[in-house]
Amino acid sequence: MSVPSSAVGTAQIGVTGLAVMGRNLARNFARHGYTVAVHNRTFARTQSLVADHAADGTFVPSESMADFVASLERPRKVVIMVQAGAPTDAVIAELVPLLEPGDIVVDAGNAHFPDTVRREAALREAGLHFVGTGVSGGEEGALNGPSIMPGGTAESYASLGPILEAISAKVDGVPCCTHVGPDGAGHFVKMVHNGIEYADMQLIAEAYDLLRAGLGATAPEIGEVFAAWNTGDLESYLIEVTAEVLSHTDAATGRPFVDVVADAAEQKGTGRWTVQNGLDLGVPITGIAEATFARALSGSAPQRAAARGVLPADTLEWNVPDPGAFIEDVRLALYASKVVAYSQGFDQIAAASAQHGWDIDRGAMARIWRGGCIIRARFLDRITQAYERDAHLPLLLADPYFTAAVANGVAAWRRVVAAAAVHGVPTPAFSSSLAYYDGVRAERLPANLIQAQRDFFGAHTYRRTDRDGTFHTDWSGDRAEQTW
Ligand code: 6PG
Repeated sequence: MSVPSSAVGTAQIGVTGLAVMGRNLARNFARHGYTVAVHNRTFARTQSLVADHAADGTFVPSESMADFVASLERPRKVVIMVQAGAPTDAVIAELVPLLEPGDIVVDAGNAHFPDTVRREAALREAGLHFVGTGVSGGEEGALNGPSIMPGGTAESYASLGPILEAISAKVDGVPCCTHVGPDGAGHFVKMVHNGIEYADMQLIAEAYDLLRAGLGATAPEIGEVFAAWNTGDLESYLIEVTAEVLSHTDAATGRPFVDVVADAAEQKGTGRWTVQNGLDLGVPITGIAEATFARALSGSAPQRAAARGVLPADTLEWNVPDPGAFIEDVRLALYASKVVAYSQGFDQIAAASAQHGWDIDRGAMARIWRGGCIIRARFLDRITQAYERDAHLPLLLADPYFTAAVANGVAAWRRVVAAAAVHGVPTPAFSSSLAYYDGVRAERLPANLIQAQRDFFGAHTYRRTDRDGTFHTDWSGDRAEQTW
């Protein structure tokens, strides 16, 4: 099949890769009045899209990649929506010979940002624009309005941006889409978004576990607690989703749905990338790291089997005298720990932006995360305002609003983490977030002893509090201090 001459050069945007996300993005473009070129390796899927959703708008289906490209107006804008890694490279390799200078290739998958940096440089050599963009919100978001985080050149955004903004989620009429920065900046920010998502989900899971262990509450009862929390400062998509899944009944057994779900969390890789990058940058994203490791622990079947019933708990019986007060303590601890997770994520964005010269506006990132994405939450408005007050804010926790908001819950946070420890409930994210809070505010950390140890066995030197310079003590000799 070749494109009818009447259709050549008529599509404003094209999507290749019509699995659910690609299909829904194509429909979203069509619903906003764009003529959409569509292509899939299996032509039947292209045909079914056009047959099933003709009412959405104008699609130009093509069986071959050549026809798909021919149906696009210049500068061509091609959205690739296939699996990250080699499949994306394969589609790019097929596309590039068919394109002309000035055309734009958009990778809307969850690509690892170093791959995007590499691809952008390679296509730039061919006179093409390569835009790695984060798209968050899952299948529903792709269809009805995701948060979109495009990287790439400002020139490509001038042409592509208005179309992406049109289909993105809107909050107060403001699109949840903006140009993040050059080359891999967009996919980097999406990666950190997913890292924060991991921390958010782990914190929610720990709150659920505490209410279950401390109060003996059932899943539906805990679902009601989350539904109530979703009317206040914790209002967010993930809290809303949590209330829904906790209230759901398994049709096969009549039991609460979550009670029949296996307790081994999986992960596609974005959280892992975030932690690896945090280590490379030297940014202590402890909440995101503990959340990622908690997923790994939950899947460590041999170790869990060896420990179960063998490792003594040595815990006290847990009687909560005032369930209402305990629930409020958990809510306050959850809020404080969430602030730490977002604070760490935004620090990571600042560190990468400086390292790569991306000049990412963190206020703008918080603004486009207010809607459409998985971590959308009421308090992202507050984060946006914090960075509008100070674009170079060194620590989100130190913004007056957040300092006051967290201060209101520190005592509760300590009670919850202590109770979890005493009663043997694992809360790696709550506990590490409190440890980070105490670490970052500490007058003096025990790192002085680590420096002394390092100098003793490795002559790695140290600095002093009372004068400038670098020093080493001759530990194996007369222990005199030398200036290095
Ligand atoms: C989003 C989500 C999405 C993510 C899936 C699976 O922003 O829409 O973050 O991109 O890939 O939710 O993520 P994990 O398998 O890593 O949990």
